[in-house]
Amino acid sequence: MKDFYITTAIDYANGQPHIGHAYEKVLTDAIARYRRMRGDTVHFLTGLDEHGQKVQQSAAREGITPQALCDRMAGIYQELCERLDISHDDYIRTTEPRHKAVVQLLLQRLFDKGEIYKGEYTGFYSQRAEQFLQDKDKVDGKWPEVFGEVVEVSETNYFFKLAQYQEWLIGFLKENPDFIVPAFRQKQVLEFLKDDLSDLSISRPRTRLEWGIPLPFDPDCVTYVWFDALINYISAIGYGTPDFERRWPVDYHVIGKDIMVPAHAIYWLIMLKACDIPLPKHMLVHGFWMSSGLKISKSSGNVIKPLDYMGDFGADPLRYFFLREMAVGQDADFSHDRFMSRYNADLGNDLGNLLSRVLNMGERYFASRIPAPSVNEEPEQHVINGWNEAAALVVGAFDRFEFSVGLEALFGFFKSLNRYAEIRAPWKLAKSEDPKDRALLETSIAVMAEGIRLGASLLRPVMPSTVDRIECHLGVPEPLTNAKLAEVPVWSFEMSGQQHGDKVILFPRPDPKAE
Ligand code: MSP
Repeated sequence: MKDFYITTAIDYANGQPHIGHAYEKVLTDAIARYRRMRGDTVHFLTGLDEHGQKVQQSAAREGITPQALCDRMAGIYQELCERLDISHDDYIRTTEPRHKAVVQLLLQRLFDKGEIYKGEYTGFYSQRAEQFLQDKDKVDGKWPEVFGEVVEVSETNYFFKLAQYQEWLIGFLKENPDFIVPAFRQKQVLEFLKDDLSDLSISRPRTRLEWGIPLPFDPDCVTYVWFDALINYISAIGYGTPDFERRWPVDYHVIGKDIMVPAHAIYWLIMLKACDIPLPKHMLVHGFWMSSGLKISKSSGNVIKPLDYMGDFGADPLRYFFLREMAVGQDADFSHDRFMSRYNADLGNDLGNLLSRVLNMGERYFASRIPAPSVNEEPEQHVINGWNEAAALVVGAFDRFEFSVGLEALFGFFKSLNRYAEIRAPWKLAKSEDPKDRALLETSIAVMAEGIRLGASLLRPVMPSTVDRIECHLGVPEPLTNAKLAEVPVWSFEMSGQQHGDKVILFPRPDPKAE
């Protein structure tokens, strides 16, 4: 059977990682982990985009080779993945021989097919964007800030015959309306395609750019960064080998909205078509993390470092925040206050507190054993029905990558367990000698423990190490594994009689002084 193949964009090696990079990896990781839980064989790829003028310039400024700079940045980005608990199966770097070989193979194939031709280019060039500009790129007669310094150049270039595929691409997108998720993004691509496409310059003279992959048919030129970077998605899975056959076409390319048009939805689709390679199944396009209305990025100078938050809280609270707070596809605001409020309210009060209650009372009243239930009245039925509804909602939402909707339902369920605890008040029941109260006490702890076990099982793709801790402290005998998640997890009081572990504070309140 085909693998479920999912990719992130590959990060530019010329900047430090920030919250946008971290978010994309966490989103993709949650999908990968969820699909594994549902029984898929997943192949999850991420990596680093290492060529281009900016890398060459930064390295020159530091007096080191571009390769040395990339090696250092690869270490930094890979450490980010590790600290975020990203479960990728492969990490591709565009300076690797396995990548360069496929880029050159495809360039040669397109050249041989007559899809690439040599031409003269005179016009404007943005160094910052590493792209040629046209008059229509001007705003109010001026080059927008994003392009940085714009210079006039005249040079010989190789062009890829992009324009001839315009009608085909429009037809493809119209026939496949669910190709891009969320759907409103696909409309933006079609909107973009209302203007005529021009052929794409895919080379840079080596005199201007040394740090790139040489064109196999003209070693005086290197290939343009996008033509190089996009190919990572197939070079990494061994284009032309059985691994490739098992994985391609990719199920989802996860990317940010800034690189949807023209890079992914135009260049990449046309490149594949021209090479006779099947097209991706889908692209999942997310929005931007903003800070007070500005995109969080290196150039806007408002970089919030995800690593700082992980230092204080570990990866899981940040992972939770990302997925709870951003509706996939939309922009969201990142602020320290918002983060702390999710941490304290959802994680500390609703989930952490719930587990503490069960472990405390289990230890005090039942010698750390989960009791068996014997009462099934309205409050119990309310919780169990609530679970069935919440679980169906969570699974449905996660299936559609609507993590924020799913997490809202899941934490609503944890909240309802806390309300149930208030209603039954086991701490009061424990003071009574009445056998009916004893039965209620046992039942209430059993209900809370089962609720946490089940709720945690669906939280796993988002907060993997927290769920490991919960299961370990709660003494879950057999964590809900892949096969079982093929269906919505069922209420079963599986924990009765089970010994549980020590008390734990999952989400300690931060030291106010440190804050
Ligand atoms: N190297 C190219 C991608 C090549 S893919 C064949 C690139 N790199 S990047 O480092 O600039 O961006 C990597 C990813 O991070 C992109 O998908 C981008 O949209 C995403 N983000 C960058 N800033 C972001 C936010 N502020 N918020 C969310 N994601 C954003 O583009």
